[in-house]
Order: sequence, then C-alpha cells, then structure tokens
Amino acid sequence: MDIMAIALGGCLSGDPCFGLTEDTGGHITYVLGAMRALSERADVGSAEIVTRRFENRQLGLVYAQPHEILSAKLRITRIDSGNPAYLAKEALARDRAAFTRALIADLRSRPRLPDIIHAHFADAAQVALAVRDALGIPFIYTAHSLGIDKARTLDRGDEGLALRIEEERQAMAAADAVIGSSRDECERQVPAYGADIEGKVHRVVPGIDQRQASAQDIAAASALIAPFLRDSGKPLVLAIARPVAKKNLGALVEAVAIGALRHHANLVILPGLRRSIEEGEPEQVQVMRALIDAVDTHDLHGSVAYPRRHDAAAVRGLYALAARSGGVFVNPALIEPFGLTILEAAVHGLPVVATCRGGPVDIVGDLDHGLLVDPVSPSAIAGAIERLLQDRPLWRRCSANGRNNVENVRWSAYAAGFHAVASRLLSPARSTVAQGSAERLLLCDIDNTLTGCAASARRFAQFIESRPDICFGVATGRSLVEARRIMRAWHLPEPVMWVTSVGSEIYWQHAMGGSRDADYAEAIGIDWAPEKLRAIASGIAGLTLQPSIEQRAFKLSYFADRAAADRLRTAIADAALPARVIFSHGRLLDILPAKAGKAAAMRHVARTLGIASGRVMAAGDSGNDLDMIAECRNAVIVANAEADLLALAGRDHVYLSRQAHAAGVLEGLRHMLRGSDEPPRRMPSARLDRAA
Ligand code: GLC
Ligand code: MG
Repeated sequence: MDIMAIALGGCLSGDPCFGLTEDTGGHITYVLGAMRALSERADVGSAEIVTRRFENRQLGLVYAQPHEILSAKLRITRIDSGNPAYLAKEALARDRAAFTRALIADLRSRPRLPDIIHAHFADAAQVALAVRDALGIPFIYTAHSLGIDKARTLDRGDEGLALRIEEERQAMAAADAVIGSSRDECERQVPAYGADIEGKVHRVVPGIDQRQASAQDIAAASALIAPFLRDSGKPLVLAIARPVAKKNLGALVEAVAIGALRHHANLVILPGLRRSIEEGEPEQVQVMRALIDAVDTHDLHGSVAYPRRHDAAAVRGLYALAARSGGVFVNPALIEPFGLTILEAAVHGLPVVATCRGGPVDIVGDLDHGLLVDPVSPSAIAGAIERLLQDRPLWRRCSANGRNNVENVRWSAYAAGFHAVASRLLSPARSTVAQGSAERLLLCDIDNTLTGCAASARRFAQFIESRPDICFGVATGRSLVEARRIMRAWHLPEPVMWVTSVGSEIYWQHAMGGSRDADYAEAIGIDWAPEKLRAIASGIAGLTLQPSIEQRAFKLSYFADRAAADRLRTAIADAALPARVIFSHGRLLDILPAKAGKAAAMRHVARTLGIASGRVMAAGDSGNDLDMIAECRNAVIVANAEADLLALAGRDHVYLSRQAHAAGVLEGLRHMLRGSDEPPRRMPSARLDRAA
C-alpha cells in the first residue's frame, strides 16, 4: 500500500519546532508519528507527507526544499503553489485552489499513484476531494480539532467559524472514511455534523513518544524555569498549550492565585514559542497579555514561569522535573478534542488534572492517572490540584498507573489500525460483496464471546470467510464506533450488520460505512420516555450513571448492583413506564425501550433479510445476551459465560460449549450445522437491497 498524507498548515518538517507559528501544533506530531509507523510496516510500500512549500528564512530553510527524505520509505514532498510566502490559516484558504492544481499536476507526472490519501484538517480534505475527482484515489479524513464545539463553548457565531464548520461537514460527507482519536470526538462531536456520518467513523488511537527524559533534558528544563522562580524546590504545576482562548490558561493562573496553592506550588506554563509577547496572531497576543496581566494583578511574580522558547528535549525534561517535584500536569481546556499532553504526562509518571470536556475523559478513564475537572471553575481546578499534591498515596497511584498504562499507546498499534481501515476501503469485505447468497444468520456478542483468545478469534474469522452462506452480524453492548474498533483489534471479520448499544441500534454495513436502520429506530422509539426514566433512576440508591459517552438515544446506562437493579425494575413497573432493565457483569445496567434489546434486533434483522427464525443462530456470554439466547432456536453459550446466562444451559435449543470464547462459538456452530452442510440454497438478493 502506498499512502499519501496531506497537511497544509504550519511548519512541517522531519524535525518539527512546535509553536513556531500558531498553526504548528500537535497535528504535526500526529502526521509524522503516523506516517513513520506506517512506513515501518512490511505491507506499506511508501509513506509520503505532502505539504506546502514556502520561503521564509526566519522560520527555516527546510520549508523551501521540495523533498525531504526521512527514511527509505518515508518522505516529505513540498508542493509549490506559486506563492512562496508562509501563510496562516485565512490566507491559506485563498491559496488552496492553486495548491490543488499544482498537486494534481505533480501526481499526473508520476509513474505510480498512491493507493490512499489521508487528509489532515478540512482544508486538506478539500484538496483530497479534488484529487479523488481527478484521479480516483479514495481518501480518509482526520479532523484533529472540530469547530462545532468551539462555536458552542466560545459562543462566537463568527463567520469564519461558520465557514470552517461547513467545510468540516463537507469533508466528512465526502470522505471515504473518517478517523478520530477519542470516543468523544467520534461519537459526540462527529455525529453532530450529521447522523449518517457516525457510520463511517473509525477510532484509531494515536501513539505517543515513549522516550524518557535524560539527565541533560532535565538540566535544560531546570535552566529554562529557574530565572522565573523564587523557590524552585516547590512542586511544579505544569501546563503546555498554545496561547489560544479555548486552552483556557487564564483559569489555571486564577486557580493558583485564589487559594493556598500559590504558597506551596510553582506554576509553569509553556505557551508555545514567541519572540515577543506582542508578536504573532491577534488571539495569541491577546491571550499572552491577559496571562501576564493576571500574574501581575495577583502578585504571582516569583512563582509562575512562562519561558519564551523550548525544544522537545526541554519539554521531556519539564514533565520529568514536575514528576520529581511531586507536581501535576494540568490541561484546563474549554474543549480538548484529544489531549496528547495528557498521554505525554503519563509517560513521565506525572499525574494529571484534566478538563472533563472532550478526549481527556477517555484517556484518564483508560489510564486512571489523574482527576477530571470542570474547566470553567478555577476553584474546581485548584481543588483537584490540591488533592493530588496533598494525598500522596493517590499521587503515587496515579503516577504508577500513568507509566504502566501508557505502555501500549504506540504508533505501531495506530499504524495497524489505519492499515486495516484503509485495506477494507480498498477491497470491501466479502460480507458486503457476497451477502446476497446468505442462507443463515449468525449473531454474535463481541466481548468475551468472540474476544478473549486471539488464536480462536482468528480461526473464527477464517470460518466466516469460508462460509458465504452464513450472514454474520454482531450484537453488542458497545457503540458502533467501539464495536468497530474492538473487532479490528481482534482481526475479526467485518459483519454485515451491527446490532449495537444492547440492541437499541442497528447499522447495515456497506462499502463506505454503516447506515442506521431507521425503521428499527422508529419502531422501538414509539413510547420511549428517557427523561421520566432518568428521573426515576435518580431516586434509586445504588445507581450511578456511566460516563456520558455511554448514554445513547435509546439506552440509559448505569453502574449498579443486583439489588438496585431490582429496585429500579419495581419503580419502573409502578410508574407503568414501558422500558426494560438489563443487568450484566454484576455491575452494569442498561435501560432500554420496551421493544428494544438484542432479541428484538435479532428478530428485526432476520425479518429484513428474509431468513426464517429456524435458521438464525446466536452466541453470547453475559446477562445482556440473555433475551437473545432465550429466544434464539439455535443458541450457543460459550464456556466462560456468566451465571445469569448459564441458567439457560438446560434448554434444548441451547448448546453449552465445552470451550471458551470464539472456540466455544465455533464448537456450537459445528454442532448446529452438522448434517446440514448441503450446498447453500440461493436466496433472492433483493431482500438485501437496504443494506447497500
Ligand atoms: C457495554 C456498554 C455499556 C453497557 C454494557 C452492558 O459495555 O458500553 O454501556 O452497560 O455494555 O450492556
Ligand atoms: Mg459479552
């Protein structure tokens, strides 16, 4: 596979200098990390990063070089649009048509075209779209930082922003696939651009530089901040963010100023690079002025450092230094699409206090290395920092969790994910090509049914590939985006349909993504009263809401114990509300519309496909599979199933496997299919029209 990435903004080189301009930000780390890891794969022939050529001695000579070879399979190509100036965002838009023409001309002159293009930001997506129109190369779009939340949080309905949002919407609608980093981005922000887009979003988690700081790095970091600080022995509260309004650095200065923090901690802010506070884009200048003014009015001189320049080594050193001092890293952004710095802090064992808006929710949820706060409240920020500074056992736990859990956040894993997404685009799975011949339906739960043993998951994939007569679908508690991610990670085959969110949503897979089954949504939604149900649940002891990202249109999810689940069932029945309560894993509880659930979805899917119920098979392991297994006439329970489900094992339509996980599913299938291996009867393919 030959891959081309396009990124237009900022100063892009093999040895990037972050913060050099306002647009030289985290996306460059992403593009370089992603493409380097891709270029290291045997199944990737070349990885080429395309950007704009410009001549600007102050920024550096390298940006005028048309070619920069980074390794045998990795290079940067700088396209000459005819305008040799460095251009910031707005001016960049005016140069786009010329850039696009130049790129297409360059591609036309080549003996071989890339197989796939990865566009970074909406402007590059517009370029990629023109390239696809001219040359037929499909493209994947990564937004990096979406405007839609900015419009909401900053309450700034300005024209530029409206234009940007429209451009992002076009990019998503046109892209062959969209790749995002966090669940918040993929499942909340992106769908806000249009309901249909969620079906083609893939979450692929970027990697992180795992290098530890050397003694020199730490010395360089100390030298950077020493001139600012009166007592450099205090714990460091560190923040690294470009000086733009949404990063909310002012609230952090406020947090340090209002309470006792100012007496026992030093604040270190790395707000990008600058020559002078008065230099740069207007927003940058404004934010820097406000910051320094806040230091001044709160008399924080001597306990706040805000160095002008730094390099990657000094940044590493600062994280390490802050960790050594027993300090914390803070990201107080009003909205943070992903939050790379939260991961970087983990690498160095530095606990974090992070915004509860956006990507950090997932990251801190996964890594368990800090506390989330409401960024609009300086006192909440201060409280969380204090807690980590004072509670040493908590600090140590967060520090160790960060280090241990960040270990597998690697670019190689990202590259595997990207490659899988691209490969499926380039050669759509058998399931979407040959589904017309399906004769049986198999619905499998994912977690602990298909997953759990890598070797048997692979055997299961081979089995499905070899059986075009079986229409394969999944039925999971996860969202579509998370279901896709886990299936990819386990090398499981792409299903024809996705029953997600505990049977409250159905998506049909097609070449460019998945489409929501609107009939099903309409059918189950009729008497759904989520507000009333939420109100009832809020009055029941022992129920806590799962994170907001788990709450879906037709699924309210809580943590609970069995007694609380029973109390809730009674309360819902007393209120005569039509809803179901599904309890699984001894601690998870979902409230669904009365007509929804995995069994209902199974019935709907079989009816849509025209497959008789006697030819439907299902497999599961937990309480949220119960209705599906109870109703299915050819059901498999894997050996590792939980007690609630095992209670069904005696029934004669249920096969209890001796083996666990995917091997158990295969064992059950073989048992049920034995003697029925006659050549598949061809069914009319018209019934599958809706899936296309
Ligand atoms: C998945 C969902 C969660 C749900 C659970 C059990 O883990 O993410 O919200 O409660 O399945 O159905
Ligand atoms: Mg399961």
